[in-house]
Amino acid sequence: MEKKVKTIGVLTSGGDAPGMNAAIRAVTRTALHAGINVKGILRGYAGLLEEDIIDMDGHSVSDIIQRGGTVLYTARCPEFVRPEIQVKGAEILKKHGIDGLVVIGGDGSFKGAEALSKNGVNTVAIPGTIDLDIACTDYTIGFDTAVNTAMETVDKVRDTSTSHERCSIIEVMGRMAGHIALWCGIACGAEEILTVERYDYDEQRIINSIIEKRRLGKKHYIIINAEGVGDSNGMAKRIQAATGMETRETIIGYAQRGGTPTVMDRVYASTFGTKAADLLMAGASNRVVAYRGGKFVDYDIQEALSMTKDLDEYMYNMSIRLSR
Ligand code: ADP
Ligand code: F6P
Repeated sequence: MEKKVKTIGVLTSGGDAPGMNAAIRAVTRTALHAGINVKGILRGYAGLLEEDIIDMDGHSVSDIIQRGGTVLYTARCPEFVRPEIQVKGAEILKKHGIDGLVVIGGDGSFKGAEALSKNGVNTVAIPGTIDLDIACTDYTIGFDTAVNTAMETVDKVRDTSTSHERCSIIEVMGRMAGHIALWCGIACGAEEILTVERYDYDEQRIINSIIEKRRLGKKHYIIINAEGVGDSNGMAKRIQAATGMETRETIIGYAQRGGTPTVMDRVYASTFGTKAADLLMAGASNRVVAYRGGKFVDYDIQEALSMTKDLDEYMYNMSIRLSR
């Protein structure tokens, strides 16, 4: 028979994402409601190793559902890849009576959670990243807010771009994945969407297209460039020189990681948090919660990490048909 979990710990790790607070709140309230203690671990695995651990009560998570960032802070902790450090992390959790842990973060954070579960602490992971690049799930905490922030910025840049009859290159986040670029580009009707997954670096095609569109009377040309493709400044200079159209770059940057979470991020993060606590209370370990095919589900972490994800091909092709 599975032993009943007595104290659940919760931490956030890797890049922060709007909606993480809603997940922390849901984990905490769900566990407290069932009479289980909750402890917050500050600054991810780094704070765990420093035993930066606080007691959480219902009040600790009041007034946070609407706030971006993470009240538990987050950090990267490169040394946590080392097996002896993972053993130490598990020992610290046990010393503090934490027998179940919720890890909110991306793929890297999931690997830390898997290591802790191998070392005897039941763990459940929650996908938290603005990049939407976790293969097992159609939704990750923060994506919706981030892509809305990007969209609003592009709408504003488009106004000035039209007034000045300029080409605008707007760089959105996504070092390894182009989901933000694709969704933002579709939502803004961008002329070009450049992603690490699909861009063939044929700048001459873009230049020819700008010249042709200009000839037909188009007043602006919006290029959404994913961070992973980068070089927005160089691209702007080359495009201006080749087309004669004034070209400016805007790098949106960290604004996409902050701000008030959207309804989608609050509700999905709340559901993920509740499901993670429910799984731990049911004796589960080494699981990741996910939203797939319209349902909230969970997977073994190893299985989740072995899955791969690409940009949606239909959406990508659609973006080309709608923009050119
Ligand atoms: P994300 O969780 O957003 O993917 P990172 O890849 O930076 O972000 O990982 C966050 C943290 O997870 C790392 O700083 C490290 O503490 C931990 N981590 C990453 N990879 C591993 C691994 N292979 N084994 C154990 N812990 C890891
Ligand atoms: O949160 C994901 C992400 O925004 C990536 O798109 C980006 O590459 C990375 O985080 C940058 O994070 P940091 O500057 O905190 O390392």
